[in-house]
Parts: sequence; structure tokens; C-alpha cells
Amino acid sequence: MKAVILTGGKGTRLLPLTHNMPKSIVPVLNIPFLEHVFRYLATHQIRDIILAQGYLSRPIQSYFGDGEQFGVRLKYITEATPLGTAGAVKNVEGYLDEPFLVLNGDIFTDLDITAMIDSHRRNRAKVTIALTPVADPTSYGLVLTNPDNGITSFLEKPTREQAQTNMINAGIYVLEPDVLGQIPAQTSFSFERELFPLLLSRGEPCYAFPAADYWIDMGTVEKYLQLHRDLLNGQSSQFTPPVPGEIVVGERSFIHPTARVEGRVIIGGGCTIGPNVVLKEAVVGSGTEILAGAVVEESVIWWDSVVGRRVELQGSIVADRCILHDGSVVRGCVLGGGVSIAGDCRLGVGSKIWPDKTAGIEEG
Ligand code: GDD
Ligand code: MG
Repeated sequence: MKAVILTGGKGTRLLPLTHNMPKSIVPVLNIPFLEHVFRYLATHQIRDIILAQGYLSRPIQSYFGDGEQFGVRLKYITEATPLGTAGAVKNVEGYLDEPFLVLNGDIFTDLDITAMIDSHRRNRAKVTIALTPVADPTSYGLVLTNPDNGITSFLEKPTREQAQTNMINAGIYVLEPDVLGQIPAQTSFSFERELFPLLLSRGEPCYAFPAADYWIDMGTVEKYLQLHRDLLNGQSSQFTPPVPGEIVVGERSFIHPTARVEGRVIIGGGCTIGPNVVLKEAVVGSGTEILAGAVVEESVIWWDSVVGRRVELQGSIVADRCILHDGSVVRGCVLGGGVSIAGDCRLGVGSKIWPDKTAGIEEG
């Protein structure tokens, strides 16, 4: 079965990380996000993948090429203007003549796609939508079903009062190709708000595939950090975390004997971890230097950054090529690529610094 992955969104909720990088390749555990998705699909024998792209499509193509190196075959189709989720799939109709899979490009899950495809066939469905339970459905698409998993209604981004269930659209669909005939060509059209309700109103068989496996939409800063926390805690079967206190280190990295590692920590290649550094529940990308006495906790650092002496970095995301000068304090912040934080600067909690900016003012 072929899969279409939707990667054309702007990733606004992940800004400033997505200012110059598409959401679908932000690194997760030091690997571009889509690489995890490709591995997951390949375990379900899905290797023919069409990327429906828009915003910032080039970096994805230049990293993955034809996909061979990653065990998949990739086709890239780029929209001139965003066509919406369903419009994007209509746009690749020429490649689809059998039932196919659609995935939102920001989902990390252990959901059993093979079982989902079986259930789609058994139900003779036109559309099967994977459902997952969430604590707060208001940021997602609510899907109501009958006891046989037949879908009865959709409500995209419900209010708290409208949320009668916690089962939401998990952003994974199996579709029959003739459904594409219901989508207007070269027009912005949405699965969630337009196509699915339209199919229901026409009495087409739409089924749900509820699943309790690990699932997250990593498309917000909070969920991106949550995904790292979850993976480090062994919540997904796709990643075996290091045992607490053990460090996973890439090639050519140097860790000073007085550096202390607590909890689960992953360090990429070519890193230098200086004397008396404390690392706790952290992911440090390749080529990063962490200097004497710095404390890095519950944070994700991309690549080629410098964390200065005695810096306190906590609950934050630091993109590539950042410099946190000596003594700076960064808690609950997101730093875009190439950001520089002045020495002894205490950044306000929740600060988001856009790429290639310098923050140096005392913010409290
Ligand atoms: N090619 C293309 N063109 N892709 C698009 C476009 C477009 O115009 N618009 C959005 N996408 C891609 C995004 O890049 C993302 O991978 C996916 O479509 C879903 O868009 P999001 O912006 O992440 O949607 P959401 O998270 O608010 O809601 C969707 O996902 C939820 C599950 O995480 C909906 O499908 C909800 O119903 C669902 O619950
Ligand atoms: Mg999303």
C-alpha cells in the first residue's frame, strides 16, 4: 500500500523552530522526524511514500533524496499554494489507483497500521480513520462513533462543552481511491471539515479504528518536548531508552570524568562535555560543546551549539548553532537557529527567540 504524508503545513505552533525548517524534519532524538515515520511505515511493509509538500519543501528533498538510504521510495509533489489536507491528496491523485494510507506529517505513534488496514477491508469502508484518546480534545478533531465503530459525526476543534468523548482523529486514514472524486481539483479542501462530513452526509461507509497505542502530535513546543520525555521514558516500542545514568554517546565525543549524568541522556557525535557539567534527561545534538559547570536539564539541543560556563538550561529547546554565553539562565524557552544569549542574561520563562537574534537584556 502507498502512503501519502502531508508535510505542507507552516508549523506555526512550533515557531521559532520552524522559521526556516519544516516541521516534519525537526530533529527528534537527533534524527529528522520523518526518518522515524519512514522506519515505522517500513515495519508495516509500507515503502512507497508520496510527500505532499508546500512550505519549505527543499530541505526535505535534499536530506532524503529518493529515500533508498532510508529503506523507502519517495516521491515529492509540491503545491504552489496550500491546498488543505484533502486538496493536497487530490493533487497527487495521479499516483493513487488502489486503497492508500494518508498520514499527517507530525504524528509519532505505535498504532498498528497493519491491523487498521485489515479492519478497513473487513468493514468494506470508504474511509477508515484511526482514533486515539487524549486528555483534552479541544485542539483536535473529535470523532463520534456507534458501537460498531461506524462514524456518526465529526467536530473539528470542539469547545470544551462540545467535547462529548475523548476519542479524536489520530491523523491517519485508509481511503478508497474513488473518494478522491469527491474532492475539487486545485482547490483548498479539508478532510476534517469538508470531505469526511460530506462522505457521511452521502451515507458512505466511514469507520473508526480506535487504538490505545502510544500516539502524539508533536506539532507544538510543549508536545515536542513531551515526545522527547516519552521516548526517553520508554513509552514507545520504537525506541529502547538508555538505562538511567547510562549515557548514549555518538562517535568522537569527549565527556570529562567529573561531568555528572542523571536520568536518561543522549549525546550525539563530536560533542564536548566539560568538567562538572550536570546533564539530566537531555538530548544533546552533534558538535555541541557544554562548558564547565553548566547544568542542562529536561532540554533538547540540536547541533553545533555552545552552552557556556555555569549556564543553567532547563525545560528548553535550543536549535542549531546557538551560543549561550557564560552564566546565562534559560528556563522554559525556545531558541531558534543561530541565537546568541549574552553572558549572565536571565531569559524570561517562556521566551521564544527568533533565529539569528541576540538576547541580552535582563528580563527578570
Ligand atoms: N500538503 C499540505 N498542504 N499539507 C498540509 C496543508 C496543506 O495545505 N495543511 C496542513 N498540512 C499538513 C501539516 O503539515 C500536518 O502534517 C498535517 O497536514 C495536519 O495539519 P496540522 O496543522 O498539524 O493539523 P492539526 O494538528 O491542527 O489537526 C489535525 O491533526 C489532528 C491530530 O493531530 C486534524 O487532522 C485533526 O482532526 C486531528 O485530530
Ligand atoms: Mg498537527
